[in-house]
Amino acid sequence: MLRGGARRQARGRGGAGSAPVRRTAALAVALAVLAVARPGDGRADGRIAAGAYLAAAAGCAGCHTAKDGAPYAGGRALPTPFGTFYSPNITADPETGIGRWSDGDFLNALWHGRDPDGNYLFPVFPYPSYTRISEADALAIKAYLASLPPVAQANKPHDLSLPFSLRPLQAGWRGLFFRDRRFRPRDGATAEIMRGAYLVTALGHCGECHTPRNALGGTMVGLALAGTTDGPEGEKVPNITPDKETGIGSWTEDELVELLASGTKPDFDNIQGSMAEVVERGTSQLSDADRHAIARYLLSLQPIHHRVGDTDS
Ligand code: HEC
Ligand code: HEC
Repeated sequence: MLRGGARRQARGRGGAGSAPVRRTAALAVALAVLAVARPGDGRADGRIAAGAYLAAAAGCAGCHTAKDGAPYAGGRALPTPFGTFYSPNITADPETGIGRWSDGDFLNALWHGRDPDGNYLFPVFPYPSYTRISEADALAIKAYLASLPPVAQANKPHDLSLPFSLRPLQAGWRGLFFRDRRFRPRDGATAEIMRGAYLVTALGHCGECHTPRNALGGTMVGLALAGTTDGPEGEKVPNITPDKETGIGSWTEDELVELLASGTKPDFDNIQGSMAEVVERGTSQLSDADRHAIARYLLSLQPIHHRVGDTDS
């Protein structure tokens, strides 16, 4: 629970950081940068630029930046029914941030929800979605974070009620709800739809808000993206499966793209609440091709008839 300098000394104990793995990772990153590079990226800093783009798609800055605080230095309060979490410093500061973390440590956090001491991280950090991020993309994000100015700012302890504050209890939750697996393209789907699936389920972690949760806080797989009255900070989060009556089934692809680009809905209202932040820091920064991929993927899903507000989910 307490985070401090001592923990930062422990490196590479996560198991994912052995030398052969790292060499494979380096190769994977080199290949991925070639694949991800967009016009203008073809320089030595291509990987950092790719990482900046991926970090925006994943919304890392929003949670890890306090109001008026330094980017990525943490300290943002995240109220939940279990208490208030404070995001940690993920700048490259060696004492208070993640400057001493190996690539393996970083992958271990994103993929397995573990810190370098092996402690379980709380799923308010959306690692249950980030577990799907590819190794190359995760390490590009790390390279981008490492390229930013380090900020010395100690982490603020979470303010949680018992028993939720007990990290070891996460073992039970993980056993029930966490599936540790990377994204795999589905047979038969187009490359565009699979890109959209990756953006929605891995980086964009859309389901962390749009999927209802059960009493123990696990996402309800059968209602994926079908909306909930019980979103972050008590927000009502709409059904974004293509059901005509209760979801976005009557939206066109262009209307969805417009929302993701500018936050304007088909009725010309502006998007509100935490989605306004997702658009501002995330989807508005994406390429038009990626916004279309997200829209196509959402519209290709099996519609789920689920009126937000009908039930207590
Ligand atoms: C919804 C808010 C949220 C988002 C989005 C988010 N984080 Fe976090 N992150 C947190 C919180 C809260 C913690 C602390 C969890 C804990 O203490 O168990 C955390 C923990 C971490 C840690 C572990 C740090 C440590 O000192 O143990 C790393 C690394 C991290 N996040 C990186 C990222 C990256 C990279 C992204 C984007 C890909 C990201 N986070 C997106 C909220 C978020
Ligand atoms: C932090 C929580 C959160 C995340 C993450 C999130 N959303 Fe949302 N989303 C919301 C909320 C809240 C609303 C309702 C906003 C409003 O009422 O104006 C919303 C609204 C929407 C709408 C409008 C639907 C309608 O019927 O009006 C779409 C489309 C949407 N989100 C898509 C996405 C996609 C795609 C992602 C992932 C890239 C995503 N959202 C991630 C919280 C979130």
